[in-house]
Order: sequence, then structure tokens, then C-alpha cells
Amino acid sequence: MLSRATINHWLCEHDPRRLEELWAEADRTRSAWVGDAVHLRGLIEVSNHCVRACHYCGIRAENAGVTRYRLTHEQVMTAARAALAFGCGTVVLQAGEDRGLSAGAVAAMIRGIKALGDIAVTLSLGERSDVEFAQWRAAGADRYLLRIETSNETLYRAVHPPRGRQPSERKAMLARLRALGYAIGSGVLVGLPGQTWSDLADDIVFLEERALDMIGVGPFIAHPATPLGAQPAEAGGTEQVPADELTTCKVMALARLACPWANIPSTTALSALDPERGRESGLKRGANVVMPNFTPLPYRAFYEIYPGKAACGDEPDRVAERLKDRITRLGRPIAAGRGDAVRPVESAPVCA
Ligand code: 5AD
Repeated sequence: MLSRATINHWLCEHDPRRLEELWAEADRTRSAWVGDAVHLRGLIEVSNHCVRACHYCGIRAENAGVTRYRLTHEQVMTAARAALAFGCGTVVLQAGEDRGLSAGAVAAMIRGIKALGDIAVTLSLGERSDVEFAQWRAAGADRYLLRIETSNETLYRAVHPPRGRQPSERKAMLARLRALGYAIGSGVLVGLPGQTWSDLADDIVFLEERALDMIGVGPFIAHPATPLGAQPAEAGGTEQVPADELTTCKVMALARLACPWANIPSTTALSALDPERGRESGLKRGANVVMPNFTPLPYRAFYEIYPGKAACGDEPDRVAERLKDRITRLGRPIAAGRGDAVRPVESAPVCA
């Protein structure tokens, strides 16, 4: 159990030498609980249509500058086969909240991918109905990712407007997803304008209380075509959390200590901040997963939730191949198999 004092201590620590202790503890914990091998999750960005107006996100509905696309069933299957051939034990289907992506179409993708072999399917499709969640689970989906973005309810409501009269209750939704039998993942943005250190400490407490199976943490990267893109980063005053690599790594390392069994990716946003070292920093400070992108090349640039995300105008295979080299150079093997999180029975999550 991580005490709030420990969390605060590390969040406030800036001395690189003393921080080595946190990195080492996160790395030891990672190695002891989930091993040294790095799991590959093949990401397929199925659609960038979105009905939401999140103030941080580049594919928000109001951004008329985005070329919208939705992959066909066959395009998704081709990408999934490529991910499997590459060695991914999991395929992640991600999309904006796209009402044009019907529950039946997603269920057919899930069934198609599951028929390819012993492969896990993770969904990251935003806030959908319980009926749809149940239908996808019945079709074979294994895991669901739904970041709460920030545990500060006021800040969350300010940057994540609800749709119509329906409140956005992601915490309760995560509990329902778990009850349906999904392994659940969540996470937060680091350095959202208005996010304070005390909010960030609360975020880590949230991750621990929910005993999550997966935790995704990335820095906020301002997108010029969003309301937060124009806002100075100091919006939160002296207590404002910076959206930098160091703070993101602290949160990842603390997330590892909070949920030692969890699968934690070294996120693309972290490597967008620092293309040279970002991915490696994450893997050395608690992460055990990377998510190579298998979205067909012509569409990649359109899934620009933040700038610089699709900067690699390279063949998907070449990018992914280089990623493998970088992992191997760290002395970490590439994992085989699905890489399901094994949560100890005594980790009793707090329900919504
Ligand atoms: N910077 C960094 N991450 C972002 N996301 C959305 N917009 C941004 C941004 N501007 C993250 C959110 C979302 C995930 C899919 O991408 O946390 O849950």
C-alpha cells in the first residue's frame, strides 16, 4: 500500500540522484511481478469520428480540420493479421466515440480477430452503453481501456463536457466493465492545464484503489486546434503540474508500485515528447508494454489526438521493427503470449 506521504514525497522530489531510488524500485517491482519481457500490443485506430468535445483532444467533434475515416472490416482484419505476424499477443481496437461504428460491426471485428489464434482483444472505444459492452464481451473481447483523464471531478467536467443530459461517469463505467468480466485499464493525463500536484497524488490513489489491470499514463500535449491548445501551461498557477517527461515517469513508476501486477505501456505520448529516449525511459521506470501502431498508413496522420503523434511517415512494419530493436538493446526480451495481468485475489478493488 502506497501512503499519500510516499506519493507526495516522490512527486516533490527533483534531485536526479535521489530519484534513482524511485526508478530502481519501480524497475525491481516490475521485474519481480511481471518479468523482464516486454509485451507488444498491436494498436489499430479503427475510426477517428467522434461525437465528444474533449478540450484536450485533436479529434474532438468540433475540429473541422480533421479528415475523418472509418476502417472497413477487411482493413481491420488485414491490420490484425499483420500485428499477429509481428508477434503481438494482443490487438487493441481504438476509436473516437463514433456512433457510425455499430456494435454489430465491432462484434464482427472481435470475432474475426479472435478466430486468428490465441490473441487477446482490448477495446478502447470510449463511453458506450452497457448493452454494447455486454455484446462485445460475449463476442470475445477481453479487456477495456477507459482513462479517467483526471480524478479531479471539477477539472474533468471542465475539459470533458458531457453529451446531452447524460453525465460522464467513467469511474462507474469501469466498475460495470469489470463486473462484465473485462480486465480493465485506466489512467490519467499528466500536466493538464489546471491540474495540481494534489490532484496528481489523488490520481495515483485512484489507480491503487481500483486495483487496475492496465494503466496508461501520458503527458498532456497541447493541440492547437483545441480549447486547451491556446491556453498557457501555467493555467494552474504555482501548483500546476508540468506536462513533462520527468513527471510522467514519476507517475508511471508510482503506478507500478500502486498496482505491481498491472500491464503498463510506455506510451506513445511519452515518446512524442522525447523521440530519442522517451520509450526507453518508460520501460526502465515501471513499464512492461509497448503498443506498435498497425493502423494502415494512409489513415495514421488523421488520428492526431495530439501533434507529433503520427510523425513517422514510415512503413508501419519498419517503425515497429525498430521498436523491437530498441527493446532488445535495453536487454529486455520480447514476450510471447497474450500477457494477461494476474491480479492477486487479496487485491480488493474499491467499487464505484
Ligand atoms: N495529449 C496527450 N494525450 C491525449 N489524449 C487525448 N488528447 C491528448 C493530448 N492532447 C489521450 C487521452 C485519451 C487517450 C486515447 O489519448 O488520455 O484517453
